[in-house]
Amino acid sequence: ATAQIGVTGLAVMGRNLARNLARNGFTVAVHNRSPERTRTLVAEHGDEGTFVPAESLADFVAALERPRAVIIMVKAGAPTDAVIDELVPLLEAGDIVIDCGNAHFADTRRREEALRTHGLHFVGTGVSGGEEGALLGPSIMPGGSAESYAKLGPIFEKIAAQVEGTPCCVHVGPDGAGHFVKMVHNGIEYADMQLIAEAYDLLRAGLDATPAEIAEIFREWNTGELESFLIEITADVLAHTDADTGKPFVDVVQDRAEQKGTGRWTVQSALDLGIPITGIAEATFARSLSGHAGQREAARRAFPDAGEKWQVSDREAFVEDVRRALLASKIVAYAQGFDHIRAGSSEYDWNIDLGSTATIWRGGCIIRARFLDRIKQAYDQQPDLPSLLVAPYFAEAVAAGVPSWRRVVADAARAGVPAPAFGSSLSYFDALRADRLPAALIQGLRDNFGAHTYQRVDREGSFHILWAADRSEVAG
Ligand code: 6PG
Repeated sequence: ATAQIGVTGLAVMGRNLARNLARNGFTVAVHNRSPERTRTLVAEHGDEGTFVPAESLADFVAALERPRAVIIMVKAGAPTDAVIDELVPLLEAGDIVIDCGNAHFADTRRREEALRTHGLHFVGTGVSGGEEGALLGPSIMPGGSAESYAKLGPIFEKIAAQVEGTPCCVHVGPDGAGHFVKMVHNGIEYADMQLIAEAYDLLRAGLDATPAEIAEIFREWNTGELESFLIEITADVLAHTDADTGKPFVDVVQDRAEQKGTGRWTVQSALDLGIPITGIAEATFARSLSGHAGQREAARRAFPDAGEKWQVSDREAFVEDVRRALLASKIVAYAQGFDHIRAGSSEYDWNIDLGSTATIWRGGCIIRARFLDRIKQAYDQQPDLPSLLVAPYFAEAVAAGVPSWRRVVADAARAGVPAPAFGSSLSYFDALRADRLPAALIQGLRDNFGAHTYQRVDREGSFHILWAADRSEVAG
């Protein structure tokens, strides 16, 4: 046995992860259900490092040093369970099984528990950065035991993206913590992309500008506070011209956003935990709405022209308004995502360090952005920060953006341009900072129709009004 780590599942992500490991000096056993892929990998990239190709899972396991470390990189769901079932009888106590797919954290918790009874470590690991990240340095979010991290940490930290000498990999916490954090990462990714898409749509409507012109605005934005991977590639996508038609690429793409499920999982989990991740939820629903072609067609016919003609007088000021609204809304999305992680951590006893989570996301991943540094600082300075929104840097950015934010949301509403994530983020902000919420009325209604009781502002206890009788107050 000579390999320090193995990868089974050599589709593009697995192949690139294996190459990344080999390029960093690790001897990597490689295996794929159909051996053709294994052969291709070694034929095409064998010179990048030391690969130990195996045609059977038994040979693959035999090639690994003990304790064995096996990365599974297959489609999340049933294929992962199938590989685990085949693998477990071949392994010995102390070996480590690492699932680098986009698994649901509940599946990871179940698998971790099951493998523990065999004396095996199961490490659900979030990996972000797409194909290129897997090859050149992804952001890595490992869960599982501290003992398994003692072996995996040095390997993962070496192959991860590095930002100013710090690897974008930290042991997130036990069992499903890594996959949970990856799930929220994807939720934020959905929100980020929806906000960017709304900003583009507003600029296009307000300025009557071409995608190529808007690409330049995004390029400019990418030199400031908004600097991020997604803003950078937005400029690239908007500037791209369709080779067949000569039209802007974005105009030949069907306006129906797909999803594989991680955004939906984030929202489902937040509902369970009672955390209002409204930006992520709007973004997820916006994708669903875009796919309802029949309803859209019917509504388009029923309401052909519902908005006022949009006239932007000061173009520069408008662009700056949209930029500030985008930044403020983006801060809301991250604030909500971090709230969600904190709640998950407490529910499942993961003890996740929020500052370290921000460190993992500084590079390599899809949501990497300049302001992740600020998030790290904010949570390092005050681990029990009530909301990222009130951390000094973010509070200042949001406060500076409020007038712009209101103008943009109001203009969009008047012109009939949908901006669900912008609007919902602004409402979230206003609700959080409100002196009094109409939740008081909801409590009154609940007490009226269902005797659900209410609490008073001036005395302790639960109360109920005898609505059907003399409307006197009684102790609930
Ligand atoms: C990443 C991405 C990736 C995800 C895609 C597709 O971090 O590298 O989050 O894991 O699979 O972004 O997600 P959707 O198909 O749901 O948009």
